[in-house]
Amino acid sequence: MQLRPAPLEDWLRDNYFTAEIDISSSGVQPYSMSDVRSLTGLTHDELDRLVFDDGYSLGTPAVRAEIAKRWGGGDPDKVMTTSGSGEAISLVLMSLLRPGDEVVVVQPGYHLLIELAVGLGCTVRTWHLDVDRDWQPSIDEGLELITERTRAVIVNFPQNPTGVSITEEDLLRLVDRARQVGAYLLWDAAFAELTYETDPLPDVSTVYERGIGFGTFSKVFGLAGLRFGWCLAPPEVLRDCVRIRDYTTLHVAPLIELVALRVLQHAEAFIEPRHQQARTNREILRRWARANEGLVSLALPTGGVAAFPRLEGVSDVDAFCDRLFKEQGVLVIPGSCFGAPQHIRLGFGGQADQLVEGLDRLATALTAATSR
Ligand SMILES: Cc1ncc(COP(=O)(O)O)c(C=O)c1O
Repeated sequence: MQLRPAPLEDWLRDNYFTAEIDISSSGVQPYSMSDVRSLTGLTHDELDRLVFDDGYSLGTPAVRAEIAKRWGGGDPDKVMTTSGSGEAISLVLMSLLRPGDEVVVVQPGYHLLIELAVGLGCTVRTWHLDVDRDWQPSIDEGLELITERTRAVIVNFPQNPTGVSITEEDLLRLVDRARQVGAYLLWDAAFAELTYETDPLPDVSTVYERGIGFGTFSKVFGLAGLRFGWCLAPPEVLRDCVRIRDYTTLHVAPLIELVALRVLQHAEAFIEPRHQQARTNREILRRWARANEGLVSLALPTGGVAAFPRLEGVSDVDAFCDRLFKEQGVLVIPGSCFGAPQHIRLGFGGQADQLVEGLDRLATALTAATSR
């Protein structure tokens, strides 16, 4: 497999740890271990009793059952736990795809959902989101790309980096088309619980026998560093994933699964405060964009905590992001990391005061850049 570099990860590796103000992340304000203990009641005694034994290839039964209960229609046989959803996505793609397979992907999008299929030698057909339609996906264009030769359709709604999503009706249209041609429908549901104007979409695995849903603690749960994720997939697909996992991570660490179980049992306590914070921050972002029309054009996200505004009048957005970081201490992501060089990705899931300060400095830098 030949993988191209992931510019998003290069940029974060270089800048994330020294950023004074981070308004780049697609996640929310992270919780600490002390928060986890107080929100779940997990005691030091329970942690002390943990034995660092080997774990289950598909995940601890109790953890699989909790995930199945919340997202998977109750069937634990469809669940595999992984080190972040990134591992789940990689395992599923590696087990399903062969060179020459036709795959539909969405652009702009998260690199893993595009580049792995490219690296595996698949023929990639791109469902383009159009900035002139505020990135809103045309479902008809997506459906047209799915043919008798399509092996898999890979989507992520609500979406990183644009924050757009689709309706449940359109999800079902995608399912119908995928079923007609026998394609797998892979749904990165990292932001499933983070919607603002509609209820969360159903997990695709509950409405389609070849639907595969991916979930993670890295976004609305505020636990990115725990590295815990999962997929909901047909058991025969999971069997193939295990065959690959036998050569890599073998299983998720028991310590992570202990914490994950307790978090799953208290999910609302984690999600609610961060969802509320994201709502407040989205309003801050909306007002900021309106006050700075002419400098930025923003399609307000309907899900997730990532936004993808266009910078007006900045000739070199990569260089601008570099200067913003070095001179103002503010971290955003250059849109070139997503193949859209006139845009930047903003993250509005963090602390409100940091967002306000970061946006303020960004507006000052934009004013200076456009009056040069
Ligand atoms: C859309 C999307 N999917 C998947 C991932 C991978 O997340 P993780 O492996 O932390 O669950 C990310 C990370 O940023 C993401 O933005």
